[in-house]
Amino acid sequence: MSNEFISIETSPPLKGTASLVGAKNAVLVIMASLILTRGKNRLSNVPNSEDVRHMIRLLESLGAIVAYDIDKKTLQVDTTTLRSAQIGADIMRKMRASFLAMGPLLARCGEADMALPGGCVLGPRPIDYHIRSFKKMGAQFTQSNESLHAQVKTLQAVDHILTYPSVGATENIMMATVLTPGTSRIINAALEPEVLDLIDALKKMGARIELEPPATIVIEGVTSLNPIDHHIMYDRLEAGSLLLAAAITGGEISLPEAPGRSMTVFLSLLEQMGHEITLGEGGTGVQLKATRDPRAVSFKTMPYPGFPTDLQAPMMTALCLASGKSVIHETVFENRLVHVRELQKMGAQISIEGQTATIVGVDELYGSAVIASDIRAGAALLLAGLAARGHTTMTGVHHLKRGYDGIVPKLAALGGRISTQYKE
Ligand code: UD1
Repeated sequence: MSNEFISIETSPPLKGTASLVGAKNAVLVIMASLILTRGKNRLSNVPNSEDVRHMIRLLESLGAIVAYDIDKKTLQVDTTTLRSAQIGADIMRKMRASFLAMGPLLARCGEADMALPGGCVLGPRPIDYHIRSFKKMGAQFTQSNESLHAQVKTLQAVDHILTYPSVGATENIMMATVLTPGTSRIINAALEPEVLDLIDALKKMGARIELEPPATIVIEGVTSLNPIDHHIMYDRLEAGSLLLAAAITGGEISLPEAPGRSMTVFLSLLEQMGHEITLGEGGTGVQLKATRDPRAVSFKTMPYPGFPTDLQAPMMTALCLASGKSVIHETVFENRLVHVRELQKMGAQISIEGQTATIVGVDELYGSAVIASDIRAGAALLLAGLAARGHTTMTGVHHLKRGYDGIVPKLAALGGRISTQYKE
């Protein structure tokens, strides 16, 4: 058990400019996609998060040679020496995204052997879409002692119809198909900005991928893919969390790198709350000037371009202090309202019915000892601590560190009274 915790005091309005890190949900899948190449790849803008370190271990366990320069945020991955198609349970159980290696391993090695995935506890989180598609392409699966073995002689190009636009399934299927001769289609594909960053990386490798409106990805298989040099997109979810930190403390923040164009629904809700939002030229860069009297707003989480489920928890914290009643309906994941109990401990007025949370704004939250149970719940509780009267301590820091790189010093540099501490 970690003895790390985050200590937070009531903070003045956060003010200043902050830089962003590379997007967790883009870097993990792009690292997995390097399995498809043979040679020396270079990724820049790589965040220093726990999940990135897990993915490095995963690539190394397959035989890749990896060098990570934390200061320069660059990652060199030489996949020439990649030999194994087997991923141990220790790596798989620590990070759900490890399963994203299945598609590229099937494409490169014709087999993959891995334990069933772990990661955040957000309901059952099935992988049936991935498995169904790999089977449709000709892969055969055997399961024993919680590990999965997949094997295929030649992958077949087929149409993949997703009943829900799953981000992970879209990515995994796309990586399996780029080296498959013929035309493959992913219909009702997820088109999250991080999926588009993966498409960008795959195209640099030489993959032939087109988008067909409204949501079909068409892939013409090629025979080999080249190593790449790729800059990971900036993290719209870190950007959203920082904007909310400024909003909840009544502050002002500028995020010059924020991908504003891919945050439209979220930014529009901040405006409806009364906050002033200014986008930079061409939609890159976001500034927020907080209102002193935020209003309640209601929303449903949805696949992109709808409101992202990953910002639902931090947005809920902001709504706890808005005047009026907000209703949030979580449609993407079950069990993604676990932060509610912790916010209630801090004085929030929230009731839950099924996947719907109703929040009645209160004048104040109170500092408390709270536990982060997943990455975004961690962000939500940091924000609550900054605005709450009195002292908050948050444990479960390892969850936060899976997806955020240096968020605590970043908030402190903006004026937040927040620090990481260790129990004796
Ligand atoms: C990714 C993101 C996560 C984000 C989520 C939704 C990464 C590493 N993680 O997760 O941060 O919250 O997208 O934007 O990129 N589903 C099935 N069967 C499947 C696959 C998914 O039923 O085979 C369901 C899930 O249970 C969930 C929904 O589809 O209810 C969406 O999941 P999905 O888009 O796959 O999320 P992830 O890729 O796991």
